[in-house]
Amino acid sequence: MKVTVSRKAHFNAAHRLYRPDWSFEQNDAVFGKCNNPNFHGHNYDLTVSVTGEIDPETGYVVDVKILKDFIKSEIEDAFDHKNLNVDVPEFKNLNPTAENIVVVIYDKLKAVLDSHLVLEVTLYETPRNFVTYSGS
Ligand code: NI
Repeated sequence: MKVTVSRKAHFNAAHRLYRPDWSFEQNDAVFGKCNNPNFHGHNYDLTVSVTGEIDPETGYVVDVKILKDFIKSEIEDAFDHKNLNVDVPEFKNLNPTAENIVVVIYDKLKAVLDSHLVLEVTLYETPRNFVTYSGS
């Protein structure tokens, strides 16, 4: 019997979308306002979903307190009120698009969660724009 347990989280962060190997004009054509050299911010919302068998002893798929603590230590502490391009090592050479951010979040959580749990992460960059990654 497999059940999915989800936890919502939130962080604020700034970013700039651009490629340093492209001209400003090329960056402007592809990334538009997101190429603003002075960066801009988003209120990112996150849904982390974990699927697995219910442990017959505890009745849990995952202890939500542990999941909450992992999200705080791995994601919120690392990203909240940061400039993703400048402050977060994973984006030193990786454009911090929503797509790339959700993959980085997935990888960081996957590394600390029990390996038999199936993980899916949805990242909202705006209430209407969101991306989902489940490791494939
Ligand atoms: Ni943006």
